[in-house]
Amino acid sequence: MVNEKIQNVLSRLEKDIDYENSHRDEIPGEKRLNCISRNIGMFYNTLLMSINAKKILEIGMSVGYSGLWFADAVMLNTKSDGQIITIDREQFKIDNATRNFEEAGVSSLIKIRKGEARKILDEIKEEFGENYFDFIFIDADKESYIEYFDLCLPLVRKGGIIGADNILLPERFNEMMADYLSHVRSNPNVQSVTVPIDNGEEVTIKL
Ligand SMILES: C[S@@+](CC[C@H](N)C(=O)[O-])C[C@H]1O[C@@H](n2cnc3c(N)ncnc32)[C@H](O)[C@@H]1O
Repeated sequence: MVNEKIQNVLSRLEKDIDYENSHRDEIPGEKRLNCISRNIGMFYNTLLMSINAKKILEIGMSVGYSGLWFADAVMLNTKSDGQIITIDREQFKIDNATRNFEEAGVSSLIKIRKGEARKILDEIKEEFGENYFDFIFIDADKESYIEYFDLCLPLVRKGGIIGADNILLPERFNEMMADYLSHVRSNPNVQSVTVPIDNGEEVTIKL
């Protein structure tokens, strides 16, 4: 069962997400939240509990919807040594996420890094070294997924997981996602499968 304070914020955000999904054309691209669905949030929440994830990195935070699902699992998995680092470059999303994390009571667990994901991933490698994270979620600019995967694979521990969103939908990303899948699946150091829920998740375990 999801932590009550987290659930309250998730429920409020789900109203915004539902509105966005039914009025997509009226909302300018840069203002869209583009969050994962509740199903996918629940899927990762369950997965993170099952691998006992304590250290998580997210590329593409938006207003923190997915981050709240991760935080709920990490809070169950740890007493106080959990750590979630989440990256975004848009100030209005950072302001919004900061408020959401405060309201959900998870501000001490989640650290937001503002800036270009590539640059921040280099800094994170310097700071934390290899094999540090239990789970990394890729959900930023789709054209950079392959690059993010290559930067993230050394950062995730053996038995840890890299998740990637939008593998199946929206259709305009299909070609880029096909390239991502063939890149990931040609790597002998991972095993990878598409989970066909909602927009589709690629779940890749480091062997
Ligand atoms: C799909 S949304 C993330 C949704 C979030 N994971 C969720 O499900 O709640 C993608 C986010 O990535 C950010 N983003 C896109 N490209 C980026 C980049 N190169 N560096 C940093 N952030 C980026 C955007 O500002 C946007 O907020």
